[in-house]
Amino acid sequence: MVIHSIPVISYEEIISGDVAPAHVLETLAETGYFYLSDLDKVISPQLFKALQDVSKSFFDSSLESKMEYYIGDSDHHRGYVPVTEQGAYGDESIRTYEAFDIGYEAEPLPPDRSLGFELIGPNRYPARIDGMAATAEAYYAANFTVSRHLLRLIAQGVGEDEEYFDRWITRPASQLRLIHYVPNDVLVNSDDTSMGAHTDYELFTLIHQTSPGLLAYDRPTRTWRNMPVFKNTLLVLGGDMLQFLTGGKVKSLLHRVITTGEERYSFPFFMNLDFETELRVLPKFGASDERITVGHHLLGQLYRDFPYIKERVDSGKWPVDFAIPDRNVFEQL
Ligand SMILES: [Fe+2]
Repeated sequence: MVIHSIPVISYEEIISGDVAPAHVLETLAETGYFYLSDLDKVISPQLFKALQDVSKSFFDSSLESKMEYYIGDSDHHRGYVPVTEQGAYGDESIRTYEAFDIGYEAEPLPPDRSLGFELIGPNRYPARIDGMAATAEAYYAANFTVSRHLLRLIAQGVGEDEEYFDRWITRPASQLRLIHYVPNDVLVNSDDTSMGAHTDYELFTLIHQTSPGLLAYDRPTRTWRNMPVFKNTLLVLGGDMLQFLTGGKVKSLLHRVITTGEERYSFPFFMNLDFETELRVLPKFGASDERITVGHHLLGQLYRDFPYIKERVDSGKWPVDFAIPDRNVFEQL
């Protein structure tokens, strides 16, 4: 279905097998994104609302109490990200957002299997926010389910078995962010940016947002396009790893968030594979010796985004034995 040139795919039709496997990949290749509708069976309207309610309760609490869960005190990149944790984005003129980061829930690896640092481990939630842990975990699980369905179609769409990606999904570096754009009366120009232009580093992203503010780069017209907000839907964006796997057939969608002054919530779920997965371009998209390691790419970008990670890596506290790039090669206009 296409509404005013906005591509929409029904999740119910995906589950019932009425969507041709190639359609998901073709849509992402054509537009870089689509909306996923008819999600009630996996994410009820009540769950969308509950996630917003617990997020509001958390972000409305005092900075001091939020900082008890500061992400920089976590061993597994989990917890509260204050407005001041500003990454190195040239165009992030007025950052007005704070966040809470949640990952794949797992026991840490034993020391003999650990790299000396690990993004995968247990989540941390403030018990004083009623229902926050249960709601966020339920929302994470639902997004994970949706993502695995999409991945099966993508696998078939590229001529592989539907289980093709399953071997790399044992402790995936898939993250859910609760993002709160703080209401403010800062006088801004229409294109002042709260979240700088970037692509997402994973396979694809599912975003639920409560109000406008997200802009995506439209390559054919070389303009930024407002992404509309539809109730109880997920916006699916192609990410860096899908661009790599498809030899560039799918382009990772460049996007940014402008400063509107209005309060806003956004809940992106980043679908990824296991940290150590080494990918090659899929056979369907031509032979190439090029390789990329999922976690190296991810950590390289988090190094740019999070001053606390930069400090850990630079000081040797996290012994990284691969080169940290100085930019993301997938971020191209
Ligand atoms: Fe993003």
